[in-house]
Amino acid sequence: MPGSICHKNAKIVTYSIDLSLWATYSSSMPKSADTTTGPLPEWDPERPYNQLPDLPPPVDLETKKILKQCILSRAAVAELRQAALRIPNQGILINTVPLLEAQASTEIENIVTTSDQLFRYRDSEENADPATKEALRYCQALLNGYRSLTKKPLSTTTAEQVCSKIKDKEMRVRRVPGTALSTPGGKVIYTPPEGESLLREKLANWERFLHERTDLDPLVRMAVGHYQFEAIHPFTDGNGRTGRILNSLFLIQKGLLSLPILYLSRYIIDNKSEYYRLLLEVTSDGSWEEWILFVLKGVAENARWTTGKIEAIVSLFFDTGAYVKEELPKIYSFELVQAIFEQPYCRIQNLVERDIAERRAASRHLKQLVDIGVLEVKKAGREKLFIHKKLLRLLTSDSNGYKAYD
Ligand SMILES: Nc1ncnc2c1ncn2[C@@H]1O[C@H](COP(=O)(O)OP(=O)(O)OP(=O)(O)O)[C@@H](O)[C@H]1O
Ligand SMILES: [Mg+2]
Repeated sequence: MPGSICHKNAKIVTYSIDLSLWATYSSSMPKSADTTTGPLPEWDPERPYNQLPDLPPPVDLETKKILKQCILSRAAVAELRQAALRIPNQGILINTVPLLEAQASTEIENIVTTSDQLFRYRDSEENADPATKEALRYCQALLNGYRSLTKKPLSTTTAEQVCSKIKDKEMRVRRVPGTALSTPGGKVIYTPPEGESLLREKLANWERFLHERTDLDPLVRMAVGHYQFEAIHPFTDGNGRTGRILNSLFLIQKGLLSLPILYLSRYIIDNKSEYYRLLLEVTSDGSWEEWILFVLKGVAENARWTTGKIEAIVSLFFDTGAYVKEELPKIYSFELVQAIFEQPYCRIQNLVERDIAERRAASRHLKQLVDIGVLEVKKAGREKLFIHKKLLRLLTSDSNGYKAYD
């Protein structure tokens, strides 16, 4: 256990989150009486919320509104799952969509990098700027978490591993007091529970809720579990990003998706103030329905967005394959086309490592792909980068169109 971490945090640390759009909220606002929730525990934003109720909450989690939205969201996720299975090489998705998720999720923390930078430095992290490095770590945390599911189910340990990877140091459940969420102006809006054993008990209850046998829809369970994880706020930092990775992993564990391609952070970033407001209103007002609907809508919206993206990638993949085959029949191979889709920033070395060609031939192949307009070449220090512009444009813009090869 990292004694130094405890030591370092032995002072009161207030982590500031960007709540600039929150002017409308005041913690002293009268709470609407919600007859469905029953009495809420005493809650003071500035005191550790050790009374945070265990799951499941004593409310109807399957209201008509929730069930109706759930049907739409489940259908959208099922379509995404199917679209992902249609792609000829799953590696293309694994190497691209998680980077988009990483970019959006770290942007919520105001760590701003571009998707372009992420693709560029994925294989040569050491040259990247700090924001890009941090987002790349998010992506690795997501992929490590995904791999870990084959060995063990989602648990507190998974959360610790994910958070440690994101923060690039050993992160354990908090042992010392002093973590709070505040506005940039310094007003504390929520203080999570304190005390390692209490936090571990709360997390054990959270785990049981995620895994217990119940017919509660997994998407609803994910929404409820995400609130609870954030309310427990087990770490001194990185809770938001860890929680968002856990959401993706949970859907894989429940078999709703087979790859970590739920790109929910994009929706959250577009609706950030609502995300914060609704999390807080579960605590202050027991507003579960609104929170669950918000998450379910986000799932549907993102699943549709990613399905569209995947379909466009698949279509570009086949178009590119056909074009290369026609223009460069001597060097065409499925593996070559696959490589420039898995690595939109391709290096000669990448083709060598994949046994596609020896160094000199690989260099020639890439140059020929430049000559026919599939790739563009750029010098980066002593190295040449072969950039798959059409694919990058597809990945980094909202549009799913691309200019056809003539
Ligand atoms: N009222 C609230 N109650 C519980 N959790 C909240 C509340 N408001 C925000 N949060 C969560 O806290 C996260 C911020 O906590 P923390 O700084 O530990 O995480 P992070 O990953 O570093 O940041 P970020 O989520 O901004 O990227 C938010 O993303 C959100 O998930
Ligand atoms: Mg933070």
